[in-house]
Amino acid sequence: MRVRLQKVIAASGITSRRKAESLIQEGRVTVNGQVVRKLGTCVDPTVDHIKVNGWSLKPPPPDVFVIVHKPAGYLTTLQDPLGRPTIAELIKRVKVRVFPVGRLDYDAEGLVLLTNNGQIAQACLHPRYHVPKTYLVKVSGVLTDEEIEALQEGVELDDGPTAPACVKKSGIALVNSWLEITIYEGRKHQIKRMLEAVGHQVLRLRRIRFGPLWLGDLPAGACRYTTDQEANALRLIGRAVTAGEETPAWKRPYLDRLHNQESSRLCSPLQGTR
Ligand code: URA
Repeated sequence: MRVRLQKVIAASGITSRRKAESLIQEGRVTVNGQVVRKLGTCVDPTVDHIKVNGWSLKPPPPDVFVIVHKPAGYLTTLQDPLGRPTIAELIKRVKVRVFPVGRLDYDAEGLVLLTNNGQIAQACLHPRYHVPKTYLVKVSGVLTDEEIEALQEGVELDDGPTAPACVKKSGIALVNSWLEITIYEGRKHQIKRMLEAVGHQVLRLRRIRFGPLWLGDLPAGACRYTTDQEANALRLIGRAVTAGEETPAWKRPYLDRLHNQESSRLCSPLQGTR
């Protein structure tokens, strides 16, 4: 992934971004043996050999991506001052320091991504990139077609209207029902607030997809590393940000198609519905 030289130098921890810019302009930085003075020069820190004041920059650590199936009753943080269970307990076998990408409510369950790559984490969370998140949701009552349509088109919340979402009925459990909802934003308690806006309460919430990642049959409480294919899909998201792309290749229409194909194959209603 190509990144601005000053950013790579600052990310190595030896100095600030501003000082790195001065060092570049003063001719004290070389890339593959050549002095580089132009600010904004892009390099690939995994391939290019960068020296500052004659000292080699350490190559960045390899990306690590971990998927956890968070059960309800765990916090999506690594520490809790009140001593409640956190996802740190579920990733004890991961020896690299990773941090959660976004949040999932304490009472929600499902897929949480953790990584050591801050840039990709930021990209996954940035609303500009419309990373899809799919939830299986148990709600009170049964939604009318008008209510489903309202959720799809966008409902008014106290922090503004929601963007269009993809909503499908997924099953009925006695008086309650299941929905599969894909949103492309990540506001606080968004699914709960969306359902509340159309008069239904969320009784159970499970995230089954985050961007290119699916929960699949990963058992509750378990974690796994991503496959190479999944990791590359995440890097693609990070790359779109680096390139400043407004319309990355994996943008919404493409993902909607993918979603429709994959959800019919992969999204079965929750087992053991209550
Ligand atoms: N929407 C919610 O209401 N809660 C979550 O944890 C995620 C999405």
